[in-house]
Amino acid sequence: MISECTEASATAAVQPELRPLAAPHLQACLALDRRCLGGLWSADQWEQELADERRPGLGLWHGEALCAMACGWLVVDELHITLVAVDQPWQRRGLGRRLLAALLARAAELGAAHATLEVATANQAALALYRSLGFSDAGIRRAYYRDGGDALIQWLRLPESDPRDQGCG
Ligand SMILES: CC(C)(COP(=O)(O)OP(=O)(O)OC[C@H]1O[C@@H](n2cnc3c(N)ncnc32)[C@H](O)[C@@H]1OP(=O)(O)O)[C@@H](O)C(=O)NCCC(=O)NCCS
Repeated sequence: MISECTEASATAAVQPELRPLAAPHLQACLALDRRCLGGLWSADQWEQELADERRPGLGLWHGEALCAMACGWLVVDELHITLVAVDQPWQRRGLGRRLLAALLARAAELGAAHATLEVATANQAALALYRSLGFSDAGIRRAYYRDGGDALIQWLRLPESDPRDQGCG
């Protein structure tokens, strides 16, 4: 059975715990993807995502319930952020920022010097989140999405990783 983040758990005092996403989390990732993003990736795509060590992914967990997740692909010295989702009851509580900051730190540890992503120009919440982390506009892709919407390319130079700072949290 997959645990879901409910309103009740979202008001609990305990902060969700940061853990890397891995193969056993397939069903939880699929379910959160469906709830937050309408099912961006198929089960096969998620399986591949969770198996590839050049695709670091992090989750925030409230007990066994996955409340938020962020994924990226390491391409040479760049982290391409492919997905960010925070379950609705947990939004606007700083989880998105905490998760992305941890993913950027993890990518820097793995040798990334830059991070980049595409975001819909209409997604003001996500844009504000990326800007709050220091991302800036690096270009626009016209009619990038199926609905004809444009995407803004976001870009961030990562600070060099300090080898004394280990772990993701
Ligand atoms: C975008 C998303 C990941 C933000 O996650 P979150 O945990 O709610 O964001 P945080 O609470 O960490 O917010 C960090 C900053 O982002 C901005 N922000 C987040 N949600 C916002 C909203 N609804 N409206 C305006 N600004 C918002 C704010 O600047 C916020 O800082 P503040 O709270 O100090 O003002 C979340 O709304 C979500 O999962 N949306 C659906 C999926 C999606 O659009 N993913 C991104 C594209 S793949």
